[in-house]
Amino acid sequence: MNYRKIPNTDLDVSTVALGTWAMGNDFWGDIDDQESIDAIQASIDAGINFIDTAPAYGAGHAEKVVAKAIEGKRDKIIIATKTGVIRTKTEFIRDLSPANIQKDMEESLRRLKTDFIDLYYIHWPDTNTPLEDSVNTLIKLKAQGKFRHLAVSNFTTELMEQIQGMTDIVCLQPNYSMVNRKIEEQIVPYCEENELGLVTYGTLAGSLLTGKHRELPDFAENDNRGRFYNYYRQDIWPQLQGLLSLMDSIAEIHSCTLAQVAIAWASQQNGITSVLVGAKNAKQANANAQASEVALNDFELQEIDSYLRNELRETIF
Ligand SMILES: NC(=O)c1ccc[n+]([C@@H]2O[C@H](COP(=O)([O-])OP(=O)(O)OC[C@H]3O[C@@H](n4cnc5c(N)ncnc54)[C@H](OP(=O)(O)O)[C@@H]3O)[C@@H](O)[C@H]2O)c1
Repeated sequence: MNYRKIPNTDLDVSTVALGTWAMGNDFWGDIDDQESIDAIQASIDAGINFIDTAPAYGAGHAEKVVAKAIEGKRDKIIIATKTGVIRTKTEFIRDLSPANIQKDMEESLRRLKTDFIDLYYIHWPDTNTPLEDSVNTLIKLKAQGKFRHLAVSNFTTELMEQIQGMTDIVCLQPNYSMVNRKIEEQIVPYCEENELGLVTYGTLAGSLLTGKHRELPDFAENDNRGRFYNYYRQDIWPQLQGLLSLMDSIAEIHSCTLAQVAIAWASQQNGITSVLVGAKNAKQANANAQASEVALNDFELQEIDSYLRNELRETIF
């Protein structure tokens, strides 16, 4: 495993990090808690020290699963969780009101069985609450030692500029993968100029880039990934299959899987600190961690880039 520092912190995070959204067991199909625990433990055994969760993942369920899996190992793990999205039975509601931030924090600490959070993200912007009110609450919680470093997710450069006028943030968590490179034009240069880390999500595009879907998939009714990751569409399916064929040939040269090519690709891009990958069992988790051993060469990176620009430019950039 390789490690990189989130700038201006002492957080030396694994370049492959574990995402736990699916472990919430309410959005990605049926997941068995023991399989989730095995996935977390296999990740740690393979050198992953960075685990990403949120109250919104199964209304706190994923945080409880993380706590069980890391019992006795808390000091070896960098825990990132988030505030500002309430998960109801049917919806995700953005709420960055001071009262909800305080509630999120107390509940996350209790569920994660820890005294402090290493990295605390604002999950999504909330246009109904003045950002200043949210930030003042977060500043107080930080002063009380409830979390160590503040970060943001799904923020624009304008919003990052605004929050940096009020307090320090250390990194951004955006959507980024071979099939979603929208952050490259403005956000990556902004983060580099402002010494902000980039911890990216959706590295496998919700499993599209594992190559397991060679036909348009029909996900189970309780598996919503195709709604969140908008790539499972007839209009771009042939071009996506072309990408998978190119990845097949690269994976063969490296004796690795397509998922490992996708993970290596993301972690080799400019400005990227660590890439989040979701895993549903120990086998997936271990294979994803091993992607840190795969290094794509300049020719392969160029081949992928040319394909994406020629065939999928409008969707991806
Ligand atoms: N900040 C935000 O707004 C935000 C949004 C989205 C995600 N995230 C974070 O980022 C994390 C990662 O993103 P993600 O979980 O959405 O999607 P992802 O990493 O793109 O895809 C994960 C899914 O791919 C499949 N998979 C994983 N490893 C595999 C392997 N080695 N072989 C075959 N299939 C494999 C699994 O599903 P199947 O086995 O069912 O195919 C798994 O659930 C999340 O868990 C969450 O922590 C944050």
